Amino acid sequence: INVYVPRDTTALSLGADAVADCLAREIQQRGLSARLVRNGSRGLFWLEPLIEVDTSRGRVAYGPVTQDDIPALLDQGMLEGSESHHLYQGYTEAIPYLQNQQRLTFSRVGITDPLSITDYRNHGGFRGLEQALGLKAAQIVDEVERSGLRGRGGAAFPAGRKWRTVLETDPERPGQPWSGRKFIVCNADEGDSGTFADRLLMEGDPYVLIEGMVIAGLAVGAETGFIYLRSEYPNAHRILTEAITRAEAEGYLGSNLLSSGRIFHLYIRLGAEAYICGEETAMLDSLEGKRGMVRAKPPLPAHHGAFGQPTVVNNVLTLAAVPYILAEGGQSYADFGMGRSRGTQPFQLAGNLARGGLVELAFGVTLRSLLYDFGGGTESGRPLRAVQVGGPLGAYLPESHWDTPMDYEAMADAGGMVGHGGIVAFDDSVDMAQQARFAMEFCRVESCGKCTPCRIGAVRGVEVIDRIIADQDRTDNLALLQDLCHTMEMGSLCAMGGMTPNPVRSALQFFPDDFTRPAGNEG
Ligand code: NAI
Ligand code: SF4
Repeated sequence: INVYVPRDTTALSLGADAVADCLAREIQQRGLSARLVRNGSRGLFWLEPLIEVDTSRGRVAYGPVTQDDIPALLDQGMLEGSESHHLYQGYTEAIPYLQNQQRLTFSRVGITDPLSITDYRNHGGFRGLEQALGLKAAQIVDEVERSGLRGRGGAAFPAGRKWRTVLETDPERPGQPWSGRKFIVCNADEGDSGTFADRLLMEGDPYVLIEGMVIAGLAVGAETGFIYLRSEYPNAHRILTEAITRAEAEGYLGSNLLSSGRIFHLYIRLGAEAYICGEETAMLDSLEGKRGMVRAKPPLPAHHGAFGQPTVVNNVLTLAAVPYILAEGGQSYADFGMGRSRGTQPFQLAGNLARGGLVELAFGVTLRSLLYDFGGGTESGRPLRAVQVGGPLGAYLPESHWDTPMDYEAMADAGGMVGHGGIVAFDDSVDMAQQARFAMEFCRVESCGKCTPCRIGAVRGVEVIDRIIADQDRTDNLALLQDLCHTMEMGSLCAMGGMTPNPVRSALQFFPDDFTRPAGNEG
């Protein structure tokens, strides 16, 4: 029988390696016949490290397990799926948090051995690529357009339209060293606060990203791809590197894809811990070996991207959604979701929640359902007060907004954004004036410095908020802060400076009392 202990970063940081070592030792010493598999995480983080055991009726789960629990778990029949130990969680698939999800992109994560190509194939892997190899480039793009897939990095631009632009752009650039080439670049510089879906996917099912990138290459006529990976993800780096080596050995990457004569080479490039390198043009600069500075758009990367050539830049989750779309058909993906937000979104529950983790659901679920049905309310037991959705540039939403469906347009109408699907919850001990200050401080630290409203504005923003908190000329400084937000929004070159006003303004609008306390009163 197989016994599973995750090897993703979250589980490792909670002691999964020690658990796996102890389990392997005990299995050997007791002469038990069990095979230890290091899987990805199911994304139920409050239960990590989560051990699963194969039984005739499906996998059963135990968690959160420490190495000290292992002898008793084995004594009490864990390998037979016994219910007697208090860490028994029942059948994994029947845990409501998992059972109530709609996992398309994450369908294999936590189930397979991430590095086993056989496992990947046995769970439907590479069917999308096989389909794509039988199609013309434009037909692949048609299928992605039919799916309604939009960019999961946050901006939600239609993926099919982006691909079509690259497909139709002439790559001949006389005199340029890379003339004639097109590129696929995967943005894996996952920098938003509270987000981890890219990492979870790369560590738990790396071949789905590889397959998505190969399909993108076939769709637009690119034979080279890069994964721009943040260096803060060393575990993902190791897993992806090994997965690329194995995929090359088996003909899923390289100069003769599945004996078709088609070509796709894939490389990893590491970032250097700069948030702004998640912005696509700064990322391209960094990829080319330069300091990551934002470029003015146009030209768009689709026309003039990596090394000056037509380039598809997509987020990990966008590319990882593509194998399903090719395997099952675009319509099958589009059947999920609402309005113009088609398919599923991997939401990431973080902050002060009892059950943090990954929840993949069709667009349309409400924030309240994510926070309570899945997240279980706060971990602290105090009332929830504010929720930041869409990363550090997203608005702080009060309870009156939690019934808004998670849909790109509905969220925008409510003053928020879905972004990359990160959800960070705060209980009633949060000081929203400090959170507003943090937004400006974050921008001050992470600004690339290219344009004045962001570079200088964020510094002034911290100072103005400090004066408001200290009750110095509060009325004038509140007006000045609004004015500054307007300047940053209208005058910044990219989303970093342009969207920093979102959290600041939402804190001012929805939590005004936090800005008008007497100085020194922590509330
Ligand atoms: P954008 O709206 O300028 O562009 C979106 C994408 O569509 C880009 O790839 C752009 O090149 C492409 N595009 C636009 N028009 C096109 C056309 N006509 N043909 C082909 N391609 C076209 O947004 P931007 O500045 O790239 O991203 C901003 C978003 O990034 C924010 O909304 C935020 O949610 C998100 N973000 C995500 C982070 C993360 O860690 N995932 C971090 C920070 C921000
Ligand atoms: Fe750089 Fe900020 Fe200007 Fe963006 S808004 S280009 S990060 S200075």
